[in-house]
Amino acid sequence: MSALNELYKEIAACQQCQIARYRTRVVPGEGAEDADIIFIGEAPGWHEDQQGRPFVGPAGLYLDQLLASIDLKREQVYIANVIKCRPLGNRDPLPAEIAACRKWLERQIELIRPKMIVTLGRYSMAMFFPGKSISKIHGTAQKWDNIIYYAMYHPAAALHQQSLRRTIEEDMLKIPSLLSEAKNMTETEQQPKQLSMFEV
Ligand code: URA
Repeated sequence: MSALNELYKEIAACQQCQIARYRTRVVPGEGAEDADIIFIGEAPGWHEDQQGRPFVGPAGLYLDQLLASIDLKREQVYIANVIKCRPLGNRDPLPAEIAACRKWLERQIELIRPKMIVTLGRYSMAMFFPGKSISKIHGTAQKWDNIIYYAMYHPAAALHQQSLRRTIEEDMLKIPSLLSEAKNMTETEQQPKQLSMFEV
């Protein structure tokens, strides 16, 4: 069994916060174990909770289209969320839930060792770009420890706000050149992941 599959077993047994009690299925993440890119959303919604798979509802269909626009299929990337269980009623995740779940995402990143991490929406952005505003930093990239961190709006936001649609589509189109120029990109001095506003 692969290390990621071993990890899924641990995630499925996690009861560290209250939302584990209400989930139908845990949604650890899925995709290529050697993916160059990890896309990180917020939390499973109703569809994801039913199927145990990330981004399979309307936002997921749109994410598939965005991936297709850069000639990628979801099997070629890795897709995960900040939170592995669905918060009841699709409420926003609580700081304590994010803090409790954070270690799973960190272990997924360690195992996959992607070249690029794309945050989708405010919650995953806040893990890597603490204190920043998505309206300011979307479509911009930083490199730390050989990984490019790139912030995008959440696909669900673009589905609900027509004005964001063009923005998210343009931001997606920048990914292939960022990836191909990854080696030449200069590292930023400050390391992310340390100052998360959600740290408790
Ligand atoms: N929204 C997310 O952030 N993640 C999912 O898996 C589905 C919708």
